[in-house]
Amino acid sequence: MTESDAIDATVLSGRAMLAGVVGWPVSHSRSPRLHGFWLRHHRIDGAYLPLPVRPDSLAAALRALPLLGFKGANVTVPHKEAALAIVDRASAAARRIGALNTIVVGADGTLEGQNTDGFGFRENLRAHQPDWTPTAGPAVLLGAGGAARAIAVALLEEGVSEIRLVNRTADRAERLAREINGPFQIHRWADRGAALAEAGLLVNTTTLGMTGQPPLDLDLAALPTDAVVNDIVYAPLETPLLAAARARGNPVVDGVGMLLHQARPGFAAWYGVEPEVTPALRAFVLRDL
Ligand SMILES: NC(=O)c1ccc[n+]([C@@H]2O[C@H](COP(=O)([O-])OP(=O)(O)OC[C@H]3O[C@@H](n4cnc5c(N)ncnc54)[C@H](OP(=O)(O)O)[C@@H]3O)[C@@H](O)[C@H]2O)c1
Repeated sequence: MTESDAIDATVLSGRAMLAGVVGWPVSHSRSPRLHGFWLRHHRIDGAYLPLPVRPDSLAAALRALPLLGFKGANVTVPHKEAALAIVDRASAAARRIGALNTIVVGADGTLEGQNTDGFGFRENLRAHQPDWTPTAGPAVLLGAGGAARAIAVALLEEGVSEIRLVNRTADRAERLAREINGPFQIHRWADRGAALAEAGLLVNTTTLGMTGQPPLDLDLAALPTDAVVNDIVYAPLETPLLAAARARGNPVVDGVGMLLHQARPGFAAWYGVEPEVTPALRAFVLRDL
């Protein structure tokens, strides 16, 4: 790339297509880096901006998106649930999950909410463990927060016939099972090791193991060695859970791919190009971690 090519790829025209990520705070978000990579790669006349929005301004900010000519936005912590009540309509997955992470502004200026976290989870699992099938055995979900809800819906859509929910706060797991409605079994947090017996998939959706958080204390002895282990925590990329699973021979999937894949539907809707998750993108996003 020559210097003038590089400038062409970053300078905006008056017709530049706009999107961004709405969060509070938003400075930690990797989405501007991720979408910025694709915008430059595809030489798109567009921008993707961090949009710091306080909770009490969320409705006004989302309503302003069409007024400001935005094609849409991602929505991140702490707004994912509140945003669902603000948009004009929402996908079936977003409604079932109870949260959205992507907004597309329609030609008529209305706001459509989507949740692409489950899509990202599924695409990442498929890309790294194509041999995993929903019939491999029960899926064990550690955690019952926002990410767990999206993954639970994705696993149900895949046809998994048993999902074992293991969460520190039992009430939250019970609420997830009640609201999402599926073949859930709730196990006590103290029994998390035993809940792994005969499982075909283990997914950590808690914050445990993340840099700055307590470690995930989990005895893997009962987990079949052919069960796929996915940690959606991606900082660090190789969590102690993934290292322990790998050491005993389990196939593993790290969490950064979910982040990359969940971004695809929004980018395609806003900028009109189907982006790809490539090793170069992965390396670019990881360089920032
Ligand atoms: N790879 C990706 O694309 C992706 C996407 C979304 C999220 N994530 C990651 O997934 C993690 C969860 O995100 P989220 O949005 O679901 O968060 P969340 O809604 O705040 O849920 C956090 C979960 O962690 C559990 N937890 C926290 N501290 C714990 C502790 N000391 N002991 C046991 N359990 C504990 C919580 O249990 P309680 O209910 O008992 O509090 C809850 O189940 C974060 O690390 C986030 O970065 C990754």
